[in-house]
Amino acid sequence: MGEICTTMDSETLKQSLDDLVARSQPYIDEANTHLQRSRHHCSSILNSAQKDLHKILQKPHTKELLPAAALLIFLAIALTQYLSRRRQSSASRPSTPTIEKAPSTKSHTTRQPGTWEPSSFQRSTPPPWEDWSIETTKPIPYRPFRYKYFQTMGLRTVKWDEWIELDNHYPRFHADKARRIAERGSKCCRTAPEALPAAYELLEELRSYLPERYPMLYQRTDKGIKNLWSGENLDTTSRPLPEDPMATCARLTQDDLALMFERPDGQYYLLAGAILLAGFWRLEDKYGMPLSEIHTSGDVPQFREKLEKGMMNFFRRLKPEELIARHNYFLQVDEDLAWSQSIGSEDSDGISWNTAEKNRAIKHHFFRSERQTLRRLPKSGAVLFTIRTYFHPITEIADEDYVPGRLASGIRSWGDDVSKYKGKEKYEEVLLEYLDKKHQEQLDRGLKLEEEDEKRTYPF
Ligand code: HEM
Repeated sequence: MGEICTTMDSETLKQSLDDLVARSQPYIDEANTHLQRSRHHCSSILNSAQKDLHKILQKPHTKELLPAAALLIFLAIALTQYLSRRRQSSASRPSTPTIEKAPSTKSHTTRQPGTWEPSSFQRSTPPPWEDWSIETTKPIPYRPFRYKYFQTMGLRTVKWDEWIELDNHYPRFHADKARRIAERGSKCCRTAPEALPAAYELLEELRSYLPERYPMLYQRTDKGIKNLWSGENLDTTSRPLPEDPMATCARLTQDDLALMFERPDGQYYLLAGAILLAGFWRLEDKYGMPLSEIHTSGDVPQFREKLEKGMMNFFRRLKPEELIARHNYFLQVDEDLAWSQSIGSEDSDGISWNTAEKNRAIKHHFFRSERQTLRRLPKSGAVLFTIRTYFHPITEIADEDYVPGRLASGIRSWGDDVSKYKGKEKYEEVLLEYLDKKHQEQLDRGLKLEEEDEKRTYPF
């Protein structure tokens, strides 16, 4: 009788353990997906614990289940610690806006597409950036690449104070923009008549935000705004303005700017823009297009499958109260910020990576990364898209801890579609060899890969 009881208990225990093993699988999968590097630590421990459990479970006797019970406790503790670490790190990270996830709420379904009721929302006044200097404030070192590349919208919320970022690359951006406005005019900056009120609204927003945030650079004047560094006095209030309002907006920021307008078909159209430093695309090609066509005409990888629906939801639901950002990165094999000459002349018909020279010396490899923000202007309801490019020689950023290893891994993980889109074939040999060498140097001097997560989180 006692023996039957023991056998039954041992069966029950075996079942419980089997159940635990099965239930641990999603956590192991999650660890594998989200913690590519940490999987050497966390998920490999869990994996081997899981294997040990399997082995033990093949054996019939209760006595031999004791180690399994110990492992069970260990597994439970490891899982608890892992989940609590994930919770903590995601709490400290900027949150993914819910608008990206959920399909509908009342407020967005009740509004008729193409209509907008002006909102009384006013963003909070930003504090001055105390020690900001056009000479010494370096660009924020965004290095937004992961060990594995995922094609996602990748949205995060941003504080209003941080809407527009300026730094000591300002003089170069400002000069490039002024030159291109003079040389290329409406090819780069234009505003459709129906978009004018929104462009004026944007100008007014910049006229109030910039002197608040950067009082050492900008001063509000009766008629507009003064640039204290360049001496420019920009008129933002005359009607008509002396120049296209988007061009004036562009002179005030390091960002490129685009305004999107919802029409009764529910699509968002690009009807105003100052696209002066985009590197790979031209306003004249995309002007007047709806969002989907902007992306499909450029063969953005997996746009239809992975992005389109989420983007439609996101645009429809975006509220004036929200400020959202996303980051991306590219490589280019020339040093031209405004237009990457290696993919062809800006005025040629066919722009393509095919024309780029292959395997150029590493000093010609540049890292280009965009910080894009999205917000809805409260009065007009237009959606403003800002594109701030950060531009550095690869040889400069590869000296930073973890960067060469993480970037090389990210590039190696691109699928064929992303590789083609980003022109990998033209630089992979030279670039990866260089990054691998720099990574090895960092390991040789004792860099601890397992400490990276403690030091920085996305967008790095
Ligand atoms: C939620 C908002 C958006 C998402 C998730 C998104 C996503 C993307 C992605 C994934 C790419 C490929 C390059 C990259 O990785 O960034 C891309 C390219 C591009 N996006 Fe967007 N985008 C958004 C909004 C916009 C808006 C508002 C515009 C309006 C101008 C725009 C214009 C472009 C253009 C012109 C390209 C380059 C296309 C080409 O190569 O021809 N995007 N976008």
